[in-house]
Amino acid sequence: MPASSRHLLKIEGLTPPEIGQYLDLAESYVLLNRSGKTQRDLLRGRTLINLFFEDSTRTRTSFELAGKRLGADVINMSVSNSSVNKGETLLDTAATLNAMHCDLLVVRHAQSGAPNLLAQKVDAAVINAGDGTHEHPTQALLDALTIRRRKGRLAGLVVAICGDILHSRVARSNIHLLTTLGSEVRLVGPPTLIPAEAASLGVSVHHSMEQGLAGADIVMMLRLQRERMASGPVPSAREYFRFYGLDRGKLAYARPDALVMHPGPMNRGVEIDSDIADDPERSVIREQVEMGVAVRMAVLDLLSRRGPRNAR
Ligand code: NCD
Repeated sequence: MPASSRHLLKIEGLTPPEIGQYLDLAESYVLLNRSGKTQRDLLRGRTLINLFFEDSTRTRTSFELAGKRLGADVINMSVSNSSVNKGETLLDTAATLNAMHCDLLVVRHAQSGAPNLLAQKVDAAVINAGDGTHEHPTQALLDALTIRRRKGRLAGLVVAICGDILHSRVARSNIHLLTTLGSEVRLVGPPTLIPAEAASLGVSVHHSMEQGLAGADIVMMLRLQRERMASGPVPSAREYFRFYGLDRGKLAYARPDALVMHPGPMNRGVEIDSDIADDPERSVIREQVEMGVAVRMAVLDLLSRRGPRNAR
């Protein structure tokens, strides 16, 4: 699906210029946010609905902030207080939201493909805020913006994505984005947490942190997603940390100027040591959150320019 599409459902299939357009616009929103100014005229009169069927802190909040800074009317709906709990189907929810003439619909759902289904049923521009284990496009865009601002480029960088790749939509979106923009991507984790299709994604697979992190420019840690594991592919948190948790010893395998990332929420002491997560010299985890707001402003801005309202 091209970026010129009305929706943002996935990174897979976007071209470098299409990704670049989001990143360049987000860059200008970083400056706007830092200046303390807003641009409330841009989405004035538009309605953004945040429809979250799964828990979220930073993604939902940053879409809300992004919408408000651009002047949209923002409505947050979470499953705990919606009719979904009364048995309404996703398509009935879509029909209801459609009748309300919402312009931008931000969806997070446990089922891979749910935002895609909604996009076929509503007039609003649909933004995937994470669907199952499939994709989380705005996370990959904010990660790319963070890297590009710190390292000046993405092409040629070695990025090690570590941990629970199997359940991670963040990993999938990042793999598509980073390989499209010319980074060397390595997946590092225990065999049980690396998806079978990894070999076909243009990445290399490593089961030891020493091997996977050797010479890496970026070390991206992922949360162990126990809520998506039926039975335990990982014996214990303590054992997992011993082999795959990022501490100073393992970080020393990477380049001396390697940056550490994590999409959050972090399990401290499981996939990452607090000592590293809170080290301002190495960790850009807070910066990722800041970039998240700017990227989401850029996405809302670009998609609202392409929406059916503007075609009228
Ligand atoms: C991620 C998600 O929900 O996919 N979090 C996020 O959006 N910041 C990763 C996770 O849940 O571990």
